[in-house]
Amino acid sequence: MMLKDKVVIVTGATSGIGRACAFAFGRAGAKVVITGRSEVKLDNTMVELQKAGIEVFGVLSDAGKRDENERVAEQALGHFGRIDILINNAGISMRALFEELDLAVFHQVMDTNFWSSVYLTKACLPEILKRKGSIVAVSSINGFRGTPARTAYTASKFAMNGFFESLRTEVMKRGVHVLVACPGFTASNIRNNALTADGSSQQESPRDESRMMSAEEVADAILYATLKRKRDLVLTRQGKLANFLNKWVPGIMDTIVYNHMAKEKDSPFK
Ligand SMILES: NC(=O)c1ccc[n+]([C@@H]2O[C@H](COP(=O)([O-])OP(=O)(O)OC[C@H]3O[C@@H](n4cnc5c(N)ncnc54)[C@H](OP(=O)(O)O)[C@@H]3O)[C@@H](O)[C@H]2O)c1
Repeated sequence: MMLKDKVVIVTGATSGIGRACAFAFGRAGAKVVITGRSEVKLDNTMVELQKAGIEVFGVLSDAGKRDENERVAEQALGHFGRIDILINNAGISMRALFEELDLAVFHQVMDTNFWSSVYLTKACLPEILKRKGSIVAVSSINGFRGTPARTAYTASKFAMNGFFESLRTEVMKRGVHVLVACPGFTASNIRNNALTADGSSQQESPRDESRMMSAEEVADAILYATLKRKRDLVLTRQGKLANFLNKWVPGIMDTIVYNHMAKEKDSPFK
């Protein structure tokens, strides 16, 4: 019960990594505030967390909207009286060539992944400064290495990495911890829900999800890194290798990444 009496907000906690984080932090003793856009999924997740003995409060909220993020912070504070840890997890992906991509899709991905983190971090920061708490960004390997047909997603994750690195340095003498977590391929709904060029969802994953890290393993690693107040976390062997190669041989990595992603089912480039 390392997090007894602490309050954690997890955005996008109705599925995948966010849901697993709500369980992992809740089992470590925290009271959990979860968000999502679907009332049914939010209610179901709350019931499951309660069954596991976790104290939970749900807020229906679209992560891309500034006023809704302000409401999440207000309601979390109103309900539990404090905010110690914020996990900026809500996210959406896309897959399309940039030349074919409707820019409305680019905006939607930036709003959900990047602007959501800015809005909610801004709204929670006074309370997290007071508690000398933690802010976690669930970024991606795409936060430091781009992949073709993922321009908007990559841009949103690079933006997150830059924003949180800057913020970390800004608050480093005030007791606030900022973790940038970069999972590699993780089994979840993200690829089923990924947006195509016209904004419709892809509906199926082009990759073998059974061979990926589980959301629960990612959540456990995020919990550990938060408790140890680590500055960053890079997950999966493939992700660590990508990080290393991209630092030292970025040109060779362009070819490796192109060839790897071209092999995906229904890849928009060959
Ligand atoms: N899975 C991977 O391979 C992988 C790798 C690296 C990083 N990540 C990152 O991990 C995070 C979680 O993704 P995941 O893989 O767990 O995907 P997921 O299973 O699709 O879960 C995404 C969560 O975000 C929520 N969400 C999406 N749009 C939202 C919005 N506008 N407002 C509020 N909530 C929203 C979804 O809930 P509703 O749809 O109910 O709103 C859902 O709870 C994302 O930031 C993603 O970029 C994933």
